[in-house]
Amino acid sequence: MNPRPPFPSMPFMEPFTPLLRLFQGMTRKGPGSEASTLRALALCPLPPHPAVADLGCGSGASALLLARTLQPLQTPILALDADGTALDDLWESAQAQGLLSQVKPCSGDMANPDIPPGSLDLLWSEGSIGHLGWAEGLRIWRNLLRPGGVMAFTDATWFEDNPPSEARRAWGDWYPTMGTEEANLRTAMDVGLDVLGHFRLPSQDWWDYFDQAEARCQKCDGDESLAETIAGMRGEMNLYRHTGHSYGYVFYILQKA
Ligand SMILES: C[S@@+](CC[C@H](N)C(=O)[O-])C[C@H]1O[C@@H](n2cnc3c(N)ncnc32)[C@H](O)[C@@H]1O
Repeated sequence: MNPRPPFPSMPFMEPFTPLLRLFQGMTRKGPGSEASTLRALALCPLPPHPAVADLGCGSGASALLLARTLQPLQTPILALDADGTALDDLWESAQAQGLLSQVKPCSGDMANPDIPPGSLDLLWSEGSIGHLGWAEGLRIWRNLLRPGGVMAFTDATWFEDNPPSEARRAWGDWYPTMGTEEANLRTAMDVGLDVLGHFRLPSQDWWDYFDQAEARCQKCDGDESLAETIAGMRGEMNLYRHTGHSYGYVFYILQKA
């Protein structure tokens, strides 16, 4: 029988409890959109019955869309995250959308997932590789792909060599190894990945995410235990408003050579 809620959380998620509480119920926990997911999917060559996993799937925005879009291929999507509460939400949405037979939520660590090496045709991930670091993430995830398998994922990326100092300072804390598109693609090719495509997410993908985040901030305003987290989230939105021209999310579509 397929696993059901409640899904366990991995112990290393404990320090993120306030952020997970703030993000409760959000359908996207990072910038993205259906249009961007589908644009990336169209760049992925797939065999007739692909093995697919969405790592760091959150509450399932992309996993559910992949399941719907790939339904004719009758392929189950392994949807893995370390946050059990997000997987509970994913399960509820999958049930409501009649997709439970196509999506398999799984609590785990995307740095060491319970997926056999060389078994995936498509590894999906939106907004999560930064938790592993670009080079380390590529190395671990490439190992999960079959030869010719594809990984498609978004990551925060510098758009300028000399970004404004406030952006440099903030991202230096959040993601010290954040690269430019050029540097990231060079590293990908160095570890044996061919570049099938890459594109920047439109800023609307950020504002749609921030709209959901701001709605949650307003709902949680006054909860002292979340005050610091709310201030941090609003600082992030403000930073994007003023310096978002210098960074953003890029979708990378890479194939195991
Ligand atoms: C920015 S959110 C993106 C979630 C989802 N892909 C989306 O776009 O809505 C990053 C996700 O990575 C998950 N995560 C962080 N570290 C992880 C790890 N080591 N293993 C599995 N999931 C992890 C978090 O729980 C969170 O759901």
